[in-house]
This record gives sequence, structure tokens and C-alpha cells, in this order.
Amino acid sequence: MTAKLPQIKISLTYETMGKKAAHEIAELLKQKPHAVIGLATGTTPLSMYDELRRIHREEGLDFSKATFFNLDEYVGLSGEHPQSYRYFMQEHLFNGLGVDDSQINIPNGMAKDLRQECEEYEEKIRKAGGIDLQVLGIGGNGHIGFNEPGTPFDLRTHVVTLTPETRKANSRFFNGDPEQVPAFAITMGPATIMNAKKVLLLANGQGKMNAVFEALKGSTSPQLPASVLQLHPDATFYLDRTAAKDFDKYFIPATHKITPMPVIR
Ligand code: GLP
Repeated sequence: MTAKLPQIKISLTYETMGKKAAHEIAELLKQKPHAVIGLATGTTPLSMYDELRRIHREEGLDFSKATFFNLDEYVGLSGEHPQSYRYFMQEHLFNGLGVDDSQINIPNGMAKDLRQECEEYEEKIRKAGGIDLQVLGIGGNGHIGFNEPGTPFDLRTHVVTLTPETRKANSRFFNGDPEQVPAFAITMGPATIMNAKKVLLLANGQGKMNAVFEALKGSTSPQLPASVLQLHPDATFYLDRTAAKDFDKYFIPATHKITPMPVIR
């Protein structure tokens, strides 16, 4: 694959960021109703999911032929657990799009043989023809999916031990107690993500500013997992203006294809 620097699209607000990313997914589905779409959890994609549900409801966009693959899932939580990613997706997206269970793929964190589950997940993606478009958020430490700093770029779906940092960050969904956050997760690996034909990474808020900057600044390193996207031929970073603060000072708009920051009045 020929690498191209990621495109950077900056929006004034979180809501606009989500809308723009949603429209990219909608366009893909209009052109390819059987598209295979990779999705992410977290608070970042929520405005995008709101817009996708609106497009379905008000504009009648059909999601019934698409196939969905989620990035990751906690080990030890069943789909009925309110903090499982399966539950999250049902709640925030799938119920509102009327998609059928048969269209949804999320790693099974309750699998007896986790290694086999990882291999089967990869196989399912292969059989579906590969992922057309993968949505990503980013952790404050630069993680994508649950690929923590230090994850080799050539790993595919695998089981990870979550860092104390990530468990702390995600404890906001577990009564504020990092101990209640599962210690392990299954995640697509960097190589699975890099195989997607197109990647959209979304990030908003000041807490993501450093990670996004490090991911784009020029060098790639497994210590900053999102930096692998600099090697992807078709990656776009959708950012709100706080996540992209001062970008114009560091990046050259022409080479990085930065969409101009809207004038703030
Ligand atoms: C989790 C998820 C990631 C997500 C990240 C950021 O650890 N596994 O896929 O991108 O958190 O979450 P948020 O969007 O809530 O900041």
C-alpha cells in the first residue's frame, strides 16, 4: 500500500465533527449498500451515531444490507451487561437503525477460548470481504481500539491487558472505580485496522490534543498506537477545534490536507 498522510478535517464543534463523519458513512452506504463497517465505542462517536440515526429516521437511509464489526469488547462482560460494548452499541446505534443481530459482529468477551475467539473474529472479517470503513476514537495515551502503547503494529485481533491509565479513564462508566473495570479485553489489532480500506479517527476535547498531535507529527511508533495511521493510504482525522488546537502552527495545510479552520466570529 502507498502511504499518504492522513487528511485532517477540523470542525468548530463536537456535533459538527460527528455530523461530518456520519455523512462520510452515509455516502459509502449509498454507493455500497452491502458495505462492511467497523465501529468504535466511547463517548467520542456519540454525536456521529446521533446523526446516523437521524439520517436513517428522517432520510430513510437503509442500513439493512450492511455488516458491522466492532473494534473491541471487555473480557468477562456479557452482552446484557450495561457496560459491555455490545450493550453500548445496541443502545446508541443499532436499535435506532433497525439492524438485525445477524449483521452485527462484536468480539465475545465471554468466550471460553479467547484465543480461538480472536482467530474466528479475524476469519469473519475476511469472509465478509474485509472492512470498507473503520471508525476509531483515540485514548489519551494514543491507544486505538484497546491497542495500548507498545502493541506491535503487526498484531491482529488479540487479548490485551488494559493499562492502569485506561482502566482509570474508563472507570467513569464503572462507578468511578478502576477496580471494577475489567482487566482484559479483546481488540482488533493494528494490522486488522490497517487492513480496512478507509479509516476515520474521531477526536474531540483538550484531553485528546496531545495524543492526536503525537499521532500525526511525522514519526510512527508502537508507543503511540494511533501513529500507525500515518502509514495508511486512506485515513482521515475528524477533530473538533480543541483537539486540533494550534495545528496550523505545526502542520503544513498543503501536505497534510488540512481543511481550513472555520472563521470564528
Ligand atoms: C476506550 C475504547 C476506545 C476508545 C477510547 C476513547 O478505551 N476501547 O475504542 O476510542 O476508549 O474513549 P472516549 O471516546 O470515551 O474518549
